[in-house]
Formats: sequence, structure tokens, C-alpha cells
Amino acid sequence: MNNTSNMVKVAVVGGEGIGPEVTAQSRRILDWFAAKRGVPMTLREAQYGVIPYLETGKVLPEDTVEAMDEADAILWGATGGPETKQVPPAARKAGSLLSLRSKYDLYANLRPIVAHPALAGAAPLKAEVLKGVDFVIIRELTSGIYFGEPRGIETLPDGQRRGFNTEQYTTNQVRRAARAAFELARTRRGKVCSVDKANVLETSVLWREEVIALHTQEFSDIELTHLYVDNAAMQIVREPRQFDVMVTGNIFGDILSDCAAMASGSLGMLPSASLGPVDRFGRRKALYEPVHGSAPDIADKGIANPLGSILSVAMMLRLTLNRAEDANLLEAAVAAALAAGARTMDIAEPGATKLSTAEMGDAVLLALEKVAGKERERA
Ligand code: IPM
Ligand code: MG
Repeated sequence: MNNTSNMVKVAVVGGEGIGPEVTAQSRRILDWFAAKRGVPMTLREAQYGVIPYLETGKVLPEDTVEAMDEADAILWGATGGPETKQVPPAARKAGSLLSLRSKYDLYANLRPIVAHPALAGAAPLKAEVLKGVDFVIIRELTSGIYFGEPRGIETLPDGQRRGFNTEQYTTNQVRRAARAAFELARTRRGKVCSVDKANVLETSVLWREEVIALHTQEFSDIELTHLYVDNAAMQIVREPRQFDVMVTGNIFGDILSDCAAMASGSLGMLPSASLGPVDRFGRRKALYEPVHGSAPDIADKGIANPLGSILSVAMMLRLTLNRAEDANLLEAAVAAALAAGARTMDIAEPGATKLSTAEMGDAVLLALEKVAGKERERA
């Protein structure tokens, strides 16, 4: 029997919309790695969203809070959708994804943008534009206009209403996001592009100055460039392969990462990791989630693409469990399944057979067995 104290704790929270369906496939993948590769982890499933709300009055019931608090890694499905209207705004806000990001200080959001050659035919951009696309957006996730105060909607003396939010960044907030980008670039192609709107916004002037200062002090081996966010949006669609690591603030990163999803071929394929600070024991809390969100229009139909979630498990293996070989194995299995023609509806070329969510899970498990088998032969 394993000593449970040495086990990495993983909370599995499917949530709402297509979240539970895609997360169920990732659960099968996690079980495979625990059983076949001896990955030392304990899995704890917990509920989030409308269903627990109707039972307990909370979208995040106590058991879920406990599971997430104690976890080293949270595998998150999705939040949102029309049925969430059954939850009053205050209850919703109390357990929102934004409040979780803030509570666990998950400031570094990594969104890798990789174009899979097998999907070129189903992608909205030309195959030649997608060739060789492989970059990571690091989005600052716990500050900026998402969290800035003051914020609100007020009524003016003349009866008009005025909505307002506050964009803001401090030295440390910029520097820790930039540090994450420089450190990641050192493990990749050594290039960081920082994105801001320094021609208009003071927060962006500060952002750029702090990124440059940190670069000069500690990371002069890295090639650093800067783009204004409007130009960055254009460059992502025009020539996405120019990027290695892109770092930017919260709202710019939100918008650019959806845009960049098209440079990968499909939003359904994109994983993400949100990392907190390293604590004094060297541990770093993390939340892994597919970028696609709840997709209410296809929820409960069993047709959603689970690969964004499954590739988030690969990020978990690499970043929380320190199992780079297992992460590579899982990514190779996904690539092999795609190369063998496995397609859910969102990535299907005209005429291709469309797999269900569970069948795509089967295809990845089958590919895992094959790829792992080949590795054993080589060893
Ligand atoms: C994302 C999403 C969220 C965000 C929403 C669901 C609040 O769009 O993770 O990109 O804006 O951060
Ligand atoms: Mg978004």
C-alpha cells in the first residue's frame, strides 16, 4: 500500500455544461496513469454548480471547498450556461471561477497554442498559416480590470447610468507574471513577446517598464519584444508561428487566447494551467481546465470534444506531478489518435466519422496502450 501522505492530491470537479462529460474522459485517463504507470496520486471527485446549488444552496458546497483546499491540483471542467439562471447572482458570485482564481492566487495562466497537423483540414485558417504553430500565452489571472476597484454601475444626476471598472497593476503583479514567462521561455525557444497598450494606458506603461526592468536584471539571455494588443491580435492570425511565449494582462489575455485558439485549429483542443505561488515547501497549487468553457448548446449530448480536458491532464502530469515522460506520452497518444482519424464533431473534416465524447476517450486510451507498448519495445 502506498503511503497516502506522499500522494499528490487531485480534486476532479466537472462543474456545468459540457464540463462533467469531458472531465469523465479525463478521469479515465488519470485512472490509466495511476494503474499503468504508477503515478502517485489520489483522486477526489467533487460537485460544482447548479446541481449542488439546488441541493445545498451553494454552488460550491463544503465538501467541494474541502476537496479543492486540500488539493495540489484541481482538474476543472466548466462553469456557466442557461440553467445557471436558477442561481441568484450573489450565490453564483460567492463560488465563481473568478473567486477561486483569486482565493488560490492562481496568477499565472498558461494557455499553450499548438496546431495539430492532422487537423489542418478542419481548421478555419489556411494550413500554411498553421504550420509549426507552437506557442504559450501567459495571461496574468488575478488582477487587472477583472478585479480592480472601484467598479460598479451608478446613476448620474441627469438620470443616465454609468458603468465603470478599474484597470490596475502593481510592480509585483507584473513582475511575477513576466518571471513566469521568462522562465518558461528558457525551457523553450528563448523568446518572450510582452503585449500591452502602452500607447494609451498608464497601466500598460508601467507593465512595459517593469517587464523591461526584470529582463535587464535577470533574463537578458531571453529575446524580449513588445507588441500593442491590437497589433498582437493581427499577428496571431497573420503569422502565429513567430511566437514562442507571449505574456500579457488579464483582459488582453482573455481576448487574445480565444483569438489564438483559431491558430491551433479548434477551441475544443486547448488546455490550460493556472498556477499559484510556490510555497515554503516547494508546492504550487494549480488548476487545470480546458479553455472551451461550458458550451451549453451541446451539453448533455455526448458529442463534446474531451481533448482540451485530456491535454490539461498532460499539463498536470508535467507541471504538478513532475512526470514529463508521462505528459509526453499522453500528448503523443492524442496526436496518434488524431492521426488515426479520431474526430469529434468540432474537428471533423466534411465526410469524416464523428465520434462521441466517450469514443474519443476510448481512442486516446487505445493510443496510450499502443504508444506505451512501442516505448517498452524500444527500451
Ligand atoms: C476564460 C473565460 C473566463 C474569463 C470567464 C468564464 C469568466 O472566458 O477563462 O477565458 O473571462 O476569464
Ligand atoms: Mg475567455
